Amino acid sequence: MSYQIIEELNRRYTTKKYDETRRIAPQDLEVALEALRLSASSINSQPWKFIVIESDEAKQRLHDSFANKHQFNQPHAKEASHTILFAYDPHFTKEKYRKRVDVEVSSGHLPPELYDSMLGAYAFAEANTDKNGFNGHWTKAQTYLALGNTLHTLARLGIDSTTMEGVDPELIGELFKEELDGYVCEVALAMGYYKEGEDFNHGRPKARMPAEDVIVVL
Ligand SMILES: Cc1cc2nc3c(=O)[nH]c(=O)nc-3n(C[C@H](O)[C@H](O)[C@H](O)COP(=O)(O)O)c2cc1C
Repeated sequence: MSYQIIEELNRRYTTKKYDETRRIAPQDLEVALEALRLSASSINSQPWKFIVIESDEAKQRLHDSFANKHQFNQPHAKEASHTILFAYDPHFTKEKYRKRVDVEVSSGHLPPELYDSMLGAYAFAEANTDKNGFNGHWTKAQTYLALGNTLHTLARLGIDSTTMEGVDPELIGELFKEELDGYVCEVALAMGYYKEGEDFNHGRPKARMPAEDVIVVL
């Protein structure tokens, strides 16, 4: 298959070593962050917050968050150009959803007379909410859509990246308490450019299950 989209997805890979001298150009970063914002989510809930680690001070904090575990990912904190913390809202309430429905109307996407019917779609969130108001399983799932969208966008921009579930949500929660404001980060995405000659993962073929094992066309 020689489609450009397939070539780009074959070229994207998980970077294991970054070139600390290379930084993402501001206009490329802007595109990546706009793609992130445009990500789809169930009932357009957008129950997420994306914290972009850019400054040396923030990189130091991210670096420190690997003190207890997953040290194999720690070098990316400083060597990658940027890292995005994908955070979900563990208690996504109907009041919070109302703000999204407000934007549905103010953007011109939703006719005002359909406001209440769209607000009723919160039932999808309710069905995933426990008696303590926790719906983090469902909101976390939404952040992975944004993650996938970003992975593809970065591939198109020729920017390398590393998805990291190997982070310490507890320490990140402490060190970025103010910015997270109650949201929870359990996955992060380092971005930048691989280091020539030092990234064992660069240039290797894709390792995926054959289509007949994972795709069923009826
Ligand atoms: C949700 C998720 C979490 C991951 N966590 C890590 C991680 O902590 N560290 C790492 O080096 N790679 C991590 N990876 C990378 C995967 O191992 C990688 O995507 C997979 O082997 C496929 O290879 P490719 O990304 O190079 O195509 C993660 C990937 C995903 C999607």
